Amino acid sequence: KKILFVASEAVPFIKTGGLADVVGSLPKCFDKEYFDVRVMIPKYLCIKEELRNQMTYIDHFYMDYLGQNKYVGILQYVHEGITFYFIDNEEYYNGSKPYGDWYHDLEKFCFFSRAALSALPVIGFQPEVIHCHDWQTALIPVLLKDRFHDGEFFRNMKSVITIHNLKFQGVWDVKTIQKLTCLPDYYFTPDKMEAYKDGNLLKGGIVYADAITTVSDTYAEEIKMPFYGEGLDGLMRARAGNLRGIVNGIDYEEFDPETDPHIEKNYNLKNFRKEKVKNKRALQQELGLNQDEKKFIIGIVSRLTDQKGLDLIQCVIDELCSDDIQLIVLGTGEERYENMFRHYAWKYQDKVSANIYYSEAMSHKIYAACDAFLMPSLFEPCGLSQLMALRYGTVPIVRETGGLKDTVEPYNEFENRGTGFSFSNYNAHEMLGIIRYAEGVYYDKKREWNKIIDRAMAKDYSWKTSAMKYQELYDWLIGD
Ligand code: ADP
Ligand code: GLC
Repeated sequence: KKILFVASEAVPFIKTGGLADVVGSLPKCFDKEYFDVRVMIPKYLCIKEELRNQMTYIDHFYMDYLGQNKYVGILQYVHEGITFYFIDNEEYYNGSKPYGDWYHDLEKFCFFSRAALSALPVIGFQPEVIHCHDWQTALIPVLLKDRFHDGEFFRNMKSVITIHNLKFQGVWDVKTIQKLTCLPDYYFTPDKMEAYKDGNLLKGGIVYADAITTVSDTYAEEIKMPFYGEGLDGLMRARAGNLRGIVNGIDYEEFDPETDPHIEKNYNLKNFRKEKVKNKRALQQELGLNQDEKKFIIGIVSRLTDQKGLDLIQCVIDELCSDDIQLIVLGTGEERYENMFRHYAWKYQDKVSANIYYSEAMSHKIYAACDAFLMPSLFEPCGLSQLMALRYGTVPIVRETGGLKDTVEPYNEFENRGTGFSFSNYNAHEMLGIIRYAEGVYYDKKREWNKIIDRAMAKDYSWKTSAMKYQELYDWLIGD
């Protein structure tokens, strides 16, 4: 069975968030005997040169788009057994980042969605299912039901759309979206691609896809409610029969404390009691924090946006810093949050370390070195960082929303259970209370703390189970 993932990012080529981890790592985990899963993304100029140089040119054609004949190049690169295709057009994908300003992004990805479909007959790959991800490729299910449907080649193709984040929908005024999608008036009514008088790409994908998934069970439920539904909760309720949550996994080879080349000292479930702390010492030294291996260190690795609950941290950070803790932050994003962490790193020099940049290596060091990992998100479709933290025996402290709720079991001191700590309301002092509870367990009941780590590291959040659920979904769509 042939499946094509179409998305805007994938590791190891280009990554701005968890979407890239998913699109890059999930295809490897399907049963290769039955599934030929390939991936298509744009060929951004900002993909590392060494990777771009290894891509091989396959073919090119010209596509009529917005009254011009646009170049569409197709390149290929086989990475860890998975075929990645790249759609090349230097006018669109020459930026220093994959995304830039909203308007251009809309045009870039409408072009990409059309080009991706048009490229398939050219390369002779005819998938039974096209699996789209987020608003950037949400036009594809609509196109499959529209013009492309006339062509024999596309007639039986099914589509899946996975919502990684309902907040971003690809919205602009109807006239513009209609122009960019080259679709007739018919599509721009409130039951199709119009939402609140605007054109909405993601809505089109949700209306027309044969199946809709999102990245955790709880988020699948949450988005049927106004608070999390981002204006589309009514549609999510209407499509509930075709919507399911499949929780993300992570690449267990890439994220493995036993073999990770980025960290000071490798460790595993058996020896973490002695070895993990060596990573703590090394990181304290590298970041210029007080070197004290007993100190409770809280880590944050995150895009710095309001999704991630950083307002809660801002509200109580002075109180938190009056405790016997250290806080290590790695992230980039909105300036107000970047400056907030810079400010507190200046104010509490021996306690707070603000690392306002992007670094794969540093993220691994933080997952390995810290005692706890804080993720108090306002909403979180799945979240991968807490899964990475669990894998490295760094105890997550999370808000009970979306995938955080589904993957972190709260510590229960009476029943010997739990892999982390969690709180329910979006309230800074509720968060502070639970952080202090965790601190208490760490300082006063070290054996209990280590048992939490035992349970956290023993959890399996590889792709195994979830890849099977996607396979079932494809089987169901394709039929036998
Ligand atoms: P989201 O996709 O909403 O950003 P996830 O938790 O699903 O959240 O995924 C975030 C991914 O991005 C994780 O792999 C995390 O390690 C990584 N990440 C976020 N910020 C940085 C950073 N500054 N440096 C390195 N990795 C980062
Ligand atoms: C989005 C979500 C995040 C999820 C990721 C991958 O970026 O914010 O929660 O883990 O997609 O699905």
